Amino acid sequence: MKIRLAKDKDYASMARLQRATIRHVNAKDYPKDIISVWAGRTKASRYRNNAKEVKRWVAVDKNQIIGFCDHDFNCEIGGLYIHKDFQGKGIGGKLLKNAEQSMKKLGCKKIKIMSTVSAKKFYEKNGYKIIKKTSHLIEKRKWRSIS
Ligand SMILES: CC(C)(COP(=O)(O)OP(=O)(O)OC[C@H]1O[C@@H](n2cnc3c(N)ncnc32)[C@H](O)[C@@H]1OP(=O)(O)O)[C@@H](O)C(=O)NCCC(=O)NCCS
Repeated sequence: MKIRLAKDKDYASMARLQRATIRHVNAKDYPKDIISVWAGRTKASRYRNNAKEVKRWVAVDKNQIIGFCDHDFNCEIGGLYIHKDFQGKGIGGKLLKNAEQSMKKLGCKKIKIMSTVSAKKFYEKNGYKIIKKTSHLIEKRKWRSIS
């Protein structure tokens, strides 16, 4: 397995990976309507649109993308997703360490992430602490509660 910077040609596979992980892994922790919106808005164009604002890393094994992680230039991780068939094999930990080193080079002393419920224990194992609780897809839920 190697970790390298993502290229434009990777975005379609990354979007497929992310949708499948949301539907198979995150689906255990979130209601169906949230999973549907979350997976539905995951598109290659989203990666393309903010490509200049982040550093995005992919884990590749035998020419297959098996995970990715991105961070911005303000010490915040945007996302970390591992292929549904490669969960629990240490790839998330390696991608996280790689992103931390990359952010250290940018001068980051502390790193922020808006975690999912599914990844809470993973981040705690890696030394992260909760500083604030929030709601996933809060806009959608607000809208639903008044409709
Ligand atoms: C969270 C996620 C990135 C972890 O990746 P992973 O490759 O499965 O994790 P690793 O195998 O590197 O695990 C590292 C450590 O965290 C622990 N861990 C990972 N997921 C865990 C979980 N759900 N509950 C408890 N511990 C967990 C592992 O046991 C391991 O501990 P160890 O080193 O003592 O054995 C992955 O499960 C994932 O893609 N989740 C869905 C997407 C998501 O919610 N991403 C976060 C959004 S930003």
